[in-house]
Amino acid sequence: MMRNLLAVALLLLATAAEAASPQQQAVLESYLSAAVTEPGFTAPSAERGRSLFVSPQSGGKPDTPSCVTCHSADLTRPGQTRAGKPIDPMAPSVTPTRFRDAANVEKWFKRNCRDVLGRDCTAAEKSDLLVFLLAQ
Ligand code: HEC
Repeated sequence: MMRNLLAVALLLLATAAEAASPQQQAVLESYLSAAVTEPGFTAPSAERGRSLFVSPQSGGKPDTPSCVTCHSADLTRPGQTRAGKPIDPMAPSVTPTRFRDAANVEKWFKRNCRDVLGRDCTAAEKSDLLVFLLAQ
């Protein structure tokens, strides 16, 4: 059952992020294999990922209501930290080195989800976010 779900998810991924490099696919796959063990998850959704990324959240720090507070809403454009330091565009089509290093991706998911949501993102949420981000 789990394996079937994962197979479906990976098939969807192949369509959603077909430009993704092997390293990017491996990062996504590790979140997907954790997500299929979470209740309610069947497949990743770029639309849920988009919504989570751009929408204002509550529960986090007041000065970082959403992911696009720092990462530009136009993912092909640079973002900016709260201190005004530039952040390279999140879109892998513009910054091909994005989402290749699992430890780096996890470090920033941890920090950024806590800042914006006031909690860790689930593996399902991280899968949704990556499917959305990898397609940019
Ligand atoms: C306070 C500013 C800030 C906010 C808010 C923020 N980020 Fe980030 N994010 C950064 C910085 C700084 C980096 C590291 C620099 C870089 O990767 O260019 C980063 C890096 C990342 C990375 C690693 C990218 C890679 O190539 O490995 C991911 C994934 C990420 N952010 C996701 C998110 C998500 C999802 C949210 C919303 C829940 C979010 N960020 C909100 C500042 C922020």
